[in-house]
Amino acid sequence: MTSPQRTQVGIIGAGPSGLLLSQLLHLKGIETVVLEKRSREYVLGRIRAGVLEQGFVDLMREAQVSERMDAQGELHAGVEIAFGGGRHRIDLEGLTGGKTVMVYGQTELTKDLYEARDRLGGTVIHNAEDVTPHDIASDAPYLTYRRGDEILRVDCNFIIGCDGFHGVSRKSIPADRLKQFERIYPFGWLGVLSRTPPVSDELIYATHERGFALCSLRSRVLSRYYVQCPLDDSVDNWPDERFWEELKARLPGDTSEALVTGQSIEKSIAPLRSFVAEPMRWGQLFLAGDAAHIVPPTGAKGLNSAASDIYYLYHALNAHYQKGDDDGLNAYSGRALARVWKAQRFSWWMTNLLHRFPDSGDFDARMQRTDLEYLFSSKAAKASLAENYVGLPY
Ligand code: APR
Ligand code: PHB
Repeated sequence: MTSPQRTQVGIIGAGPSGLLLSQLLHLKGIETVVLEKRSREYVLGRIRAGVLEQGFVDLMREAQVSERMDAQGELHAGVEIAFGGGRHRIDLEGLTGGKTVMVYGQTELTKDLYEARDRLGGTVIHNAEDVTPHDIASDAPYLTYRRGDEILRVDCNFIIGCDGFHGVSRKSIPADRLKQFERIYPFGWLGVLSRTPPVSDELIYATHERGFALCSLRSRVLSRYYVQCPLDDSVDNWPDERFWEELKARLPGDTSEALVTGQSIEKSIAPLRSFVAEPMRWGQLFLAGDAAHIVPPTGAKGLNSAASDIYYLYHALNAHYQKGDDDGLNAYSGRALARVWKAQRFSWWMTNLLHRFPDSGDFDARMQRTDLEYLFSSKAAKASLAENYVGLPY
């Protein structure tokens, strides 16, 4: 083994969580090394979420990576819910005293973070295989990884696990000390990206007897649509014509008439899962983002929950290095989890409200309908949806 590299904070995973934390810490003079299993092309090839809470937008600005987001992202002051043949708007801005969300793709945001890391000379090591945290319960933890036949070592003060749901960090916490909470939903989302103008200026979440559908967008010329599908379905069963037909069948008549269809440029199926691991800290290892929690995408909270973890960690690590104050680090797991669970609740509620469950009966269908009717008859209920959608305070 070659002599170890030294850094202050070792980060596993170069998704949005790892890159954003690395960038924020760098601006405070704190050194990081990011180890990523995949190539940069692979990371940037993933099509993922697209709705950012105000808190996340502010964090991107603080990280000095907001230029393109501010120029190309779209501020959305409302979202719509379609049911019973009509569309109903939630006035996010009016119901939250002026808060909005930003529509900007995770892929673009990740690209911006990579460019910022390059510009400042940040160390992001790709194709790092067999990344392993060591001695996490001691005050001298370290990471090893393999490149070809060579084993390399990174010594650090802290290890941050930003390596997503399938990563190695969470598995490094002793199994008898980790409590995991999980719900797997009996359906998936089939997503299509197409170079077509979006059917609506704002997102439409649609619920229908045939199942859930979502009309989202990336820009004025790029649309992202989803339909709920069986868990064991395959994209091979979904030629474009069938997808458009099914989407139209789940939307109100005037909306499906207005829908511009075209060739898909990406098509994939994602399962829906709720998952939380507790605690989010073990010794000198801290988990953030998908490594610690997953939400079903119905409330657009996946990326945003990752951002709130990064917010808490950034401030906690900064207080440690600038002032020797460890209160933030000691409070991290509890503080992050309190917000994570609220995002879990909201995502679970939105998922239950809008999807068709294969084993549900007439009673459940009436409950869903009543929940929706109540929502649109009560300002308090709409305000509750709105305050969660724009994001609870950090
Ligand atoms: N070693 C190194 N890197 C790893 C390992 C490992 N063993 N396992 C996974 N990774 C990398 C993945 O290749 C990926 O690039 O960690 C990164 C994790 O990134 P994400 O899965 O994007 O997770 P995160 O950064 O927390 O982003 C939050 O919010 O919208 C949701 O799921 C969506 O990706 C999004 C997430
Ligand atoms: C998306 O645009 O991909 C998207 C938007 C809102 C969601 C989920 C996904 O709730």
